[in-house]
Amino acid sequence: MAIHTITTQAFDDQKPGTSGLRKRVTVFQQPHYLENFVQSIFDAVEIPTGASLVVGGDGRFYNVEAIQVILKMAAANGVGRVLVGRGGILSTPAASCVIRKHNTFGGIILSASHNPGGPDGDFGIKFNAANGGPATETVTEAIYARSKKITQYKIVDAPDVALDVVGETELAGMKVEIIDSVTDYVALMETLFDFEAIRQLLASGFRLRFDAMHAVTGPYARAIFVDRLGAAPDAVMNAEPLPDFGGGHPDPNLTYAHDLVEIMFADDAPDFGAASDGDGDRNMILGKQFFVTPSDSLALIAANARLAPGYGQGIAGVARSMPTSAAVDRVAEELDIPCFETPTGWKFFGNLMDAGKVTLCGEESFGTGSDHVREKDGLWAVLFWLNILAIKRQPVETIVKRHWARFGRNVYSRHDYEELPSEAANHLIEHVRGQFASLPGQSLGRYTVKACDDFSYTDPVDGSVSQKQGIRILFEDGSRIVFRLSGTGTAGATLRIYLESFDADISQHDQDAQDALAELIAIAEQISELKQRTGREQPTVIT
Ligand code: G6P
Ligand code: ZN
Repeated sequence: MAIHTITTQAFDDQKPGTSGLRKRVTVFQQPHYLENFVQSIFDAVEIPTGASLVVGGDGRFYNVEAIQVILKMAAANGVGRVLVGRGGILSTPAASCVIRKHNTFGGIILSASHNPGGPDGDFGIKFNAANGGPATETVTEAIYARSKKITQYKIVDAPDVALDVVGETELAGMKVEIIDSVTDYVALMETLFDFEAIRQLLASGFRLRFDAMHAVTGPYARAIFVDRLGAAPDAVMNAEPLPDFGGGHPDPNLTYAHDLVEIMFADDAPDFGAASDGDGDRNMILGKQFFVTPSDSLALIAANARLAPGYGQGIAGVARSMPTSAAVDRVAEELDIPCFETPTGWKFFGNLMDAGKVTLCGEESFGTGSDHVREKDGLWAVLFWLNILAIKRQPVETIVKRHWARFGRNVYSRHDYEELPSEAANHLIEHVRGQFASLPGQSLGRYTVKACDDFSYTDPVDGSVSQKQGIRILFEDGSRIVFRLSGTGTAGATLRIYLESFDADISQHDQDAQDALAELIAIAEQISELKQRTGREQPTVIT
């Protein structure tokens, strides 16, 4: 079959962000836009002739069209075999699982994660390496560099591949294997968790609600919770993946997962609620009228890891992103294991896991996971919680409050200001940075500033340095405020303000986080001149 070499012109905006290249669908639909980026991946990673790849996505609008293009370009670039999730569907953690299990050269994942989908929504693409994890900074930089210089790409002229039937087929000499999207992933989960104990918990009348938000986890959640664990079919809601996620914003937090939040905060709420995002790597955990912050969830999983068979031997170490609360640090200290603080972005955990330095990782942005794959994993976190609940047989709220009683509570909240004009957001950050010299020593209300800095990280495995990963205002009593611009937005700038204080006093543990943090919130607004600079009175999202 004919391989065409198409002449193209470089785009100057193909710089991958926190997690791959994310843009509006309409941007990807420009002639050659997707092709340029895909060819830049193949060129930058120097894809070997005959290599195997995994391809799949979260099912959002443009998923299938993009997969057809990628398959034809893979064939033209000498790839030997591609494993594709049926219908083009693979959750991000499942893609990572498949890459590892089948020892492929890597994979291409199509997703804009939790961003809305549909013709006017977002689309995204990223490359994962042979370890199943997102490409390192070095590789994404190389892809970007290539994209700025590209002059041609290769594609075969061939009919589309039928993606809906499991089995082997062929495209211009390249093998295409359509695999069931769920099987490998579910098999892996069965090796990690005590399915029998969870089955018994669910049979005892324990009520579970999982919100798939019309995104990729629907089929996975049904296979696990309903088919394997015996939950009632209505335990999985919004289970049908839709190209536009039913018009929703598939981000599992208190604002966007409102259907579930309403159910879990009603008088007759189920015992346990959880949700996952567009591509299945994020999770939100709720008890009856109770929200578990992602930072606490990580700490609690670390403290109880031995209850799950896959972690029965204990954990080697933990890692969290810098803006994530230090709750897990306290657990690590007690377990006498190392705790690493990395920049935001799951890719920073990969080296630590590959080197065997950490077993569990987590981020405040609703990401939790372990070295079973190299992505964060929403359903994994839900299963971990169910495993803990199946053994402890206590309400979620009791488990969390007992954890706080033992370790103290890291009171935590994040305030997001979305779609700010980029200039205003950048100036705000510069304004805070401009106070690095004057703030230390100052008393602001009951807090005294100890130090301020731009967080920078030296990877302990490969020595690479990442600078300016967020501004930290650290106070004498261990409280802190972090200012950071999101690396995942597609419109304007999103300012994130992370607020944290520590309270060892049990009598204060029932306090609402917003009340407990009110003074720090006011200090953050004052230091950054937030209202004057952005004209915003309220955050867009509070988590
Ligand atoms: C994605 C990444 C995470 C990151 C999150 C927030 O989900 O996979 O690693 O924490 O985005 O990133 P942002 O730059 O928007 O704060
Ligand atoms: Zn995601």
